[in-house]
Amino acid sequence: MRMVDLIEKKRDGGELSTEEINFIIDGYTKGDIPDYQMSAWAMAVFFQNMTQRERADLTMAMVNSGDTIDLSAIEGVKVDKHSTGGVGDTTTLVLAPLVAALDIPVAKMSGRGLGHTGGTIDKLEAIEGFHVEIDREEFVRLVNQDKIAVIGQTGNLTPADKKLYALRDVTGTVNSIPLIASSIMSKKIAAGSDAIVLDVKTGAGAFMKTVDDAKELAHAMVSIGNNVGRKTMAVISDMSQPLGLAIGNALEVKEAIDTLQGKGPKDLEELCLALGRQMVFLANKASSLEEAEEKLKEVIKNGKALEKFKEFIKNQGGNPDVVDHPENLPQAKYQIEVPAKEDGVVAEIVADEIGTAAMWLGAGRATKESEIDLAVGLMLNKKIGDSVKKGESLVTIHANRENVDDVIGKIYENIRISDHAEAPTLVYGIIT
Ligand code: URA
Ligand code: CA
Repeated sequence: MRMVDLIEKKRDGGELSTEEINFIIDGYTKGDIPDYQMSAWAMAVFFQNMTQRERADLTMAMVNSGDTIDLSAIEGVKVDKHSTGGVGDTTTLVLAPLVAALDIPVAKMSGRGLGHTGGTIDKLEAIEGFHVEIDREEFVRLVNQDKIAVIGQTGNLTPADKKLYALRDVTGTVNSIPLIASSIMSKKIAAGSDAIVLDVKTGAGAFMKTVDDAKELAHAMVSIGNNVGRKTMAVISDMSQPLGLAIGNALEVKEAIDTLQGKGPKDLEELCLALGRQMVFLANKASSLEEAEEKLKEVIKNGKALEKFKEFIKNQGGNPDVVDHPENLPQAKYQIEVPAKEDGVVAEIVADEIGTAAMWLGAGRATKESEIDLAVGLMLNKKIGDSVKKGESLVTIHANRENVDDVIGKIYENIRISDHAEAPTLVYGIIT
């Protein structure tokens, strides 16, 4: 087989066979196929698309390019949740204990934040003593015993995707549905769960800016999952404004605790229930999505979800007292209000820009090497559709530096007040 023939075949709209796709991914991972040929192929895919079969094959070829995690030692149906990334997205912190409280194993591998988006591991590390450096055996033992554990990314997972994603980044080929879908799904499949729930975000803070694009991506990922034997469902959710009220690590831990007590922000709670019910359903713990939602509400009400969060923190070296005393979480030195300059209704809170403002305070990383400050961040006091009076606080800045003029300026530029506006739809659709 010659790579040039496969590039031409795809360029001319042909369908590549399983063997041909394996040849491309295998050759590229090993370094036998050079970047310039792989770039030309990615551009051909960008223009010619891939069939469902090709997408499934591409995904599995990337899965097989490196290590895979074997979770077979964990009893029960392992369901993973994945978000395509957003600002102030506190759902994993809520969902992990919430679902585990229903005896569903949560064996989660998580990442750190980069740019305007946060990462679950950073948030958990805001809890004193909490660590994710546990070995594979301990991880399996904890999930079997208490149904919940989180580890950092380990092993050489999907090296083909790493290499191809970096190449796409500099060759104008990131924005291709078959390439994005197979990239995300390969990582999820390599991580070993039996079923996958996807939260595909749409809006300013998201990768997919329109609902139609988000739906197309969701359909593509759900098809791949189902085609390779992993039950997969997706929720399309809004990321035009940040999710919930808190953006920042310790602030989001507090928000998760509130939500597990049934006292969290409405949008965060609604999204957690929408995703959670799919997880419970896919884990075969309910015969319908409605029944699944009832079960989730029950463990919030009876306190089991909160107890599970404490158990989880304790198991991984953290101090569970923060659940009852969130004031013991890291606190920033200064709290600075950002008052509205006029009366009106909040019409826009540009998610990614507000995420960047939080990053400037130190809540997120500008580069992979940046140090973060777990205490700092932003608390939104208003969301889209809320009315506001001149002088009322729009946002409370939690900072460890006295001068935050840069952050205040960014907030004013990205929160628009108008005569009228309505809260955006939170869940745009369910893809099964
Ligand atoms: N995120 C990924 O992991 N892969 C893509 O291709 C795009 C976004
Ligand atoms: Ca939040």
